[in-house]
Amino acid sequence: MKIFSIVGARPQFIKLAPLSKALTGLHEEFIVHTGQHYDYAMSEKIFMDLGIRKPDIHLGTGPGTQATQTGEMMVKLEAAMLEKKPDIIIVFGDTNSTLAGVMAASKLNIPVIHIEAGLRSYNHSMPEEINRIVADHVSKYLFAPTQTAVDILTKEGLKKNTFLPGDIMVDTMKNNLGIALEKSTIVKDLKLNNEAYNLLTLHRNYNVDDTTILGHILKQLGELGEKIIFPVHPRTRKMLTDSISVSPNIYMTEPVGYLDFIALENSAKRIITDSGGIQKEAYLLKKPCITLRTETEWVETVEEKWNLLVNPKSKNIATKIESFKPPKKQKEVFGKNVTKKMVKIINNIQ
Ligand code: UD1
Ligand code: UDP
Repeated sequence: MKIFSIVGARPQFIKLAPLSKALTGLHEEFIVHTGQHYDYAMSEKIFMDLGIRKPDIHLGTGPGTQATQTGEMMVKLEAAMLEKKPDIIIVFGDTNSTLAGVMAASKLNIPVIHIEAGLRSYNHSMPEEINRIVADHVSKYLFAPTQTAVDILTKEGLKKNTFLPGDIMVDTMKNNLGIALEKSTIVKDLKLNNEAYNLLTLHRNYNVDDTTILGHILKQLGELGEKIIFPVHPRTRKMLTDSISVSPNIYMTEPVGYLDFIALENSAKRIITDSGGIQKEAYLLKKPCITLRTETEWVETVEEKWNLLVNPKSKNIATKIESFKPPKKQKEVFGKNVTKKMVKIINNIQ
């Protein structure tokens, strides 16, 4: 089959890596990069770290409002689909690149596989929530990462299109943790002692787009007093103006590569984040995770008590972080051998 794998944002490259490798030699796969993320650290570095070949098609779409960004991608994706005539499209997660891919393909009657289907935060102020709902309802094949996602899709009447291969980020982590621990020197370079620092990321629109909220979060984390390593997402970097003071216990860096990031996660005492993927990685690495959000799509990590939701607008965030202690055990919730299961399903599609 001729396959278009459509990606555009950092977490999508990370989800693409094991699948694209597994499809090589079996199908004719085109990696289509929308250009949504374009900084070296957000895109090319991740491709290099994960050994993903250069995109076959790069659409060069940059930033924009929700509609201009998605619209521009749709126009370019439609042209690429009309030219190459793929048999099937694969989209990942919930970004504007996902939405554009799903919309362009479904209007050309090209079947779509949605990887990471069935997630809901039930928070409609997140652009991602809108993207997920549309993606699930127009895709032909829904690859759910968890049983919870299957249950949600079933409730929405989509059971017959749903498969449960598990979460592909499990395989990316499994394939790369050993390499990261061997190759990455970041923990040593930053003179970090094992489990003697926290790792922080922030990029959710409602946490970073308002300097009052971002300033409040960073002030609260300053009160933690412990060392915090903070690779800063470009969206957040833009908001860190002089009006926000960052306490000296918080050490900011550029976004780091995937191998460096999982090495930092692996040696951290705990992880503080509003990212989706990082909540899962914290769970896989058995690191206490504090999620600065009022809800999460990854409910299993909270139910298993390895992830604590903390309202980013609340007071005493440092105290909540300090007193959070996960249990010793945890259940496997994200599956295993996920890529293999996905490829098997794809191979059975006629
Ligand atoms: C996007 C996804 C989000 C995902 C995140 C992963 C949507 C709606 N959101 O959010 O679901 O969690 O990616 O990181 O698709 N920018 C740069 N350089 C870059 C990329 C972005 O400077 O390489 C800046 C641009 O000014 C842009 C802003 O960051 O306006 C936001 O980028 P955008 O891709 O729109 O959304 P993200 O916040 O990255
Ligand atoms: N990540 C990375 N470098 C960083 C921060 C994160 O490689 O500096 C990786 C991280 O390991 C995870 C993914 O990026 O696999 C998460 O992406 P992000 O937080 O941007 O998006 P989300 O998962 O929230 O959509």
